[in-house]
Amino acid sequence: MAKILANLNYALLLGVILLLVVAFGFHAEALQTGVHYANGIFRFLHVLCGIMWIGLLYYFNFVQIPTMPKVPAELKPAVSKFIAPEALFWFRWAAAFTVLTGLIVAMLSGYLIEALTLQPGGRVIGLGMWLALIMAFNVWFVIWPNQKKALGIVEVDADTKAKAATTAMLFSRTNTVLSLPMLYCMVTQGWLGGV
Ligand code: HEM
Repeated sequence: MAKILANLNYALLLGVILLLVVAFGFHAEALQTGVHYANGIFRFLHVLCGIMWIGLLYYFNFVQIPTMPKVPAELKPAVSKFIAPEALFWFRWAAAFTVLTGLIVAMLSGYLIEALTLQPGGRVIGLGMWLALIMAFNVWFVIWPNQKKALGIVEVDADTKAKAATTAMLFSRTNTVLSLPMLYCMVTQGWLGGV
């Protein structure tokens, strides 16, 4: 068992096997329902990607950004050259796949346009989608380009580098702020109604 858990790929494979056992155990009949079941699968994938995205956003805001000033100068490159670029890779692609799977869920649920145009009944999820779209825009078009400069992936002078780090931090913080109402909309649409 330790051998399986020590290897991330094997551990993930184990997770998928357990997932299939649960899915077939509970929903063997629903599996034959096509679009109805596809909606369930895409909801699952959507929340999975969302956890990866927002989990890393919270890692940056609750762990990395507050801890960096306390890290001795000679150790900082371990974070900026190794940990942060890897975290940013998963962060930006998780954001993209959360958007994609979320839009697919809305389409399969039959309210994509109503929600995006904030029609009655789709206003809650519509607002959540717009907040998450703004957040994803920030990730791809503000945070990532600025992080490339701040981390030295793109060469710039020291002044531009410092400014880029501040901009990336402020937009990352903005996304943390927006994540609270966004997540409220995501989880209450189904339970409390779309208003
Ligand atoms: C632009 C990006 C996003 C879009 C288009 C989107 C869209 C949707 C849609 C259409 C639903 C189904 C609501 C329903 O009818 O019950 C949903 C549910 C949900 N979303 Fe998102 N979402 C986005 C971002 C996020 C993010 C960043 C998270 C963070 C984890 C998230 C977490 C959830 C959760 C937990 C649910 C509830 C699933 C359920 O109850 O079935 N979403 N989202």
